[in-house]
Amino acid sequence: MEKLKIAGGYPLKGSIRVSGAKNSAVALIPATILADSPVTIEGLPDISDVQMLKKLMEEIGGEVSFEDGEMTVDPSRMISMPLPNGRVKKLRASYYLMGAMLGKFKKAVIGLPGGCHLGPRPIDQHIKGFEALGAQVTNEQGAIYLRADELRGARIYLDVVSVGATINIMLAAVLAKGRTVIENAAKEPEIIDVVTLLTNMGAKIKGAGTDIIRIDGVDSLHGCRHTIIPDRIEAGTFMILAAAVGEGILIDNVIPQHLESLTAKMREMGINIEAGDDQIFVSPGEKYKSVDIKTLVYPGFPTDLQQPFTSLLTKASGSSMVTDTIYGARFKHIDELRRMNAKIKVEGRTAIIDGPVQLHGAKVKASDLRAGAALVIAGLMAEGITEVTGLEHIDRGYSNLVEKLAGLGATIWREEMTQEEVEQLKS
Ligand code: EPU
Repeated sequence: MEKLKIAGGYPLKGSIRVSGAKNSAVALIPATILADSPVTIEGLPDISDVQMLKKLMEEIGGEVSFEDGEMTVDPSRMISMPLPNGRVKKLRASYYLMGAMLGKFKKAVIGLPGGCHLGPRPIDQHIKGFEALGAQVTNEQGAIYLRADELRGARIYLDVVSVGATINIMLAAVLAKGRTVIENAAKEPEIIDVVTLLTNMGAKIKGAGTDIIRIDGVDSLHGCRHTIIPDRIEAGTFMILAAAVGEGILIDNVIPQHLESLTAKMREMGINIEAGDDQIFVSPGEKYKSVDIKTLVYPGFPTDLQQPFTSLLTKASGSSMVTDTIYGARFKHIDELRRMNAKIKVEGRTAIIDGPVQLHGAKVKASDLRAGAALVIAGLMAEGITEVTGLEHIDRGYSNLVEKLAGLGATIWREEMTQEEVEQLKS
């Protein structure tokens, strides 16, 4: 088991390239199940979630090659293998296997992912959608059993705007008979990316990016080639990092329109941001003002950037408030930031950050992916050495993070943990 070590307090500069979007990748790969010939996806990030999905595709009979971010999945020999346990339980986004396998084989058994770090993450809206399409869904000993004689298009109103439910229902509906309408659908760029792939495979979908999506079922889907969109959350993480410790950083391979809510808040703080076609240049302002943020569904401020943004706010003068309306318990990073001298209190769904303070290096633990990003940024801001454990979370979503940050001049490295440290971490 490894930990990350960061010698903080030094300014960074240069350029950094954003990888393909994790939250697209975890849906695009299961979507390949629906085709009857090979699908190639270009630009996939080199993260453990993608490696895990590759193995799951192989487990159900897919032939998969993956090199330099290009994955080809031949689904022609796939079968509806039950996946109640094992890998599927480790991957939060394994719920997309439900929609894709139900759509293709009209049956699936998928284990639910285990303990959650962001508070409850129900999938009731996914299930409501599958049932509306004609599936019988039962939960037996932690696995979801889905079966349908036939899937028929339906009108589905989502009670909660959900990225996962919107995509999952689309995956189940593309091969159903007749028209499906998803109302109150999520509008995230990752949904448009999945629809682009499905359309290239022969699906008939209208309205992606709006809150009403119409799907006309087709008899079969074919292979194609698709290039994934850049990861807006990774790009946003680098923008925040650039404002926190940068002396002028160019972020490359980004769609600036995907980050307008973050850009607006950063400008309000006094940070200089210049957006080009597919690049964003961030340079520090003289002094940072406190700001309040409230996470919302897209195009509002993303919950996934709330944690990294909190680290930056320790530099701002005055009191800032961060309210997470999507995941009310996404505050596990706060205790760790406090260890580093941050002045933050949490009241309900809101964190109140008082600044400016100088962070100090400390031993901290990443409890989830974006908490990890928040702690890496804090480590770069802090004076002294910071040690971050819980790297398995960071590796799920940030491709080659150490190499990328070292390219900006950061002193950051991975180190094997001692047996004693591993035991301490487990206790
Ligand atoms: N919700 C329900 N019922 C459902 C589904 C969702 O009540 O059936 C609630 C959730 O509890 C949450 C809200 O609706 O409060 C939004 O959840 P959503 O379904 O949109 O989240 P998700 O699809 O499970 C994706 C990303 C998350 C990101 C959220 C919100 C993937 C694989 N994950 O999750 O990404 O935080 O959307 O934008 O796409 C991350 O990247 O670190 C991450 C956690």
